[in-house]
Amino acid sequence: MPEVASVLFGREDIRRRIEELGRAITGDYEGRAPILVSVLKGGSVFLADLIREIRLPLAIDYMSISRYGGAAESMGRVRIVKDLEQDVGGRDVIVVEDIVDTGLTLSYLISALESRDPASVEVCALLDKSVRRIAPLTIRYRGFECPDVFVVGYGLDFQERYRNIPDILAVQDLAALGADPDALLSHLPGGSGPHEVAGPEGSV
Ligand code: IMP
Ligand code: MG
Repeated sequence: MPEVASVLFGREDIRRRIEELGRAITGDYEGRAPILVSVLKGGSVFLADLIREIRLPLAIDYMSISRYGGAAESMGRVRIVKDLEQDVGGRDVIVVEDIVDTGLTLSYLISALESRDPASVEVCALLDKSVRRIAPLTIRYRGFECPDVFVVGYGLDFQERYRNIPDILAVQDLAALGADPDALLSHLPGGSGPHEVAGPEGSV
């Protein structure tokens, strides 16, 4: 039987790529103190790792948005569910996203942020599903180009599950996962999945 999902980007690839992104942001924003805005909830895992690779006096904040309905006819209609706590006026803003798919969510968010007169707004996205883009968008910092497949893990969910898988998995059989939502349990930390990392001898 074919696998329901397989590792697309392993935890070590993700770690190395985030190190590079952090280094690029550190260089580009030298002498400045950007505010990194994470889009809840998926972007929070990426943000947590990314900020520890940036050597700048930065700030973080969170925003939560939801799409009306989610149907095609609701294209681009997005509502802010939770707004930022900090004023971004005059600040350098970096929006940190787990994945950019159609780009509708992010293009709405960027126009909302730009109306607040920040010094700059840039996007840092771990995954870019560029073939699905509807709303044109400039992604200044991109982790990986992502094939047109549903992905889970590292913050990304399937029905609110599996955000805590350390790797990013490509789901080959969404119907099978829908029928058996437990199908990916072996990929959770400490599970028997293919990417379980064995600790040194005698470690706990
Ligand atoms: P967009 O507005 O179509 O770009 O939607 C982006 C949002 O949809 C992301 O921030 C994710 O929360 C979600 N999303 C898009 N593709 C996937 C996927 O393959 N797995 C899990 N969530 C996804
Ligand atoms: Mg998201």
